[in-house]
Amino acid sequence: CEPAVAVAHPNIALVKYWGKRDERLILPLADSLSLTLDAFPTTTAVRQAPDAPEDRVIMDGVPARGEMRRRITDFLDLVRERSGIRAPAVVDTRNTVPVGAGLASSAGGFAALALAAARAYGLPRDPVSLSRLARRGSGSASRSVHGGFAVWHAGDPGAADPDHASYAEAVTDARVDLALVAVILEAGPKSVSSREAMRRTVATSPLFPGWLRKSREDLGRMRAALREGDITTVGETAERNALGMHATMETASPPVRYRTAASDAALTQVRRLRADGLGAWATMDAGPNVKVICDAADAKTVAARMGEVTGARVVVAGGGPGARLRTED
Ligand code: DP6
Repeated sequence: CEPAVAVAHPNIALVKYWGKRDERLILPLADSLSLTLDAFPTTTAVRQAPDAPEDRVIMDGVPARGEMRRRITDFLDLVRERSGIRAPAVVDTRNTVPVGAGLASSAGGFAALALAAARAYGLPRDPVSLSRLARRGSGSASRSVHGGFAVWHAGDPGAADPDHASYAEAVTDARVDLALVAVILEAGPKSVSSREAMRRTVATSPLFPGWLRKSREDLGRMRAALREGDITTVGETAERNALGMHATMETASPPVRYRTAASDAALTQVRRLRADGLGAWATMDAGPNVKVICDAADAKTVAARMGEVTGARVVVAGGGPGARLRTED
């Protein structure tokens, strides 16, 4: 039969998701908030293959292997369990994000997979159901279901069905026009996965409880700043939240350090831009790359000045759309 084809984009968190309270269901310890980008789309086709002996997963033209394949087939098992359709699947996915380089490839990837698989296996495709489903592939994917800003609710830990209570929703009252300037310092896969780094941080970092408390405050401050169009508070809050997250993992045992000398040079340049009166703030995820948050009107200047000093490839992204079927039907 015809495959279902979905497209989704990565998102960058302004208030980070870092730490799970349930590993199996992928339930976070706190709410997080992100901007879905208009760059680096992932396109994923899924079809049922009733006669195939097992799932077939192709990533960028080659069969997926190891951990990556296991995460996708586990996700397909969940789709089969929910739909009651036992057929194996053929999945063909094309990524434009360098995989594993802290550019959130899993977010766009699992958002696209969730939508295509939901279409192919007849599961509900309303944004809330889809966000919950995508969450089970990768936590941050719950937010890429939505376009623009999205907040992922941790959900009430005491809820009768905690799986049901945790999903992302679009933030519709934001009054800022943000750009994210991605400074791509390294595009190779990382040595420690974000999943493992997160687990280790929660279990061992003495700084983690303080960061988590602060992060809950940051979320309220971020929502208000978006609503009020206060880009300075948006940037300052996001930068502090991200650097705080890195401090938690760097104090885990054994420590996880994604920041490199090149990252530090880029962070210094962001501070220099601010000293020159530009509104520019940094955020970083589970990798060495630095993303600069600024007003869309300043993006070109910021990109040029970041490229100048780092010599790195610089990509300007704005807010992008949520996950979509390619042939809307
Ligand atoms: C640093 O969503 O990749 O990008 O749920 O284990 O798949 P899993 O983790 P993942 O973690 C993303 C962490 C982050 C921060 C964020 O996107 O909020």
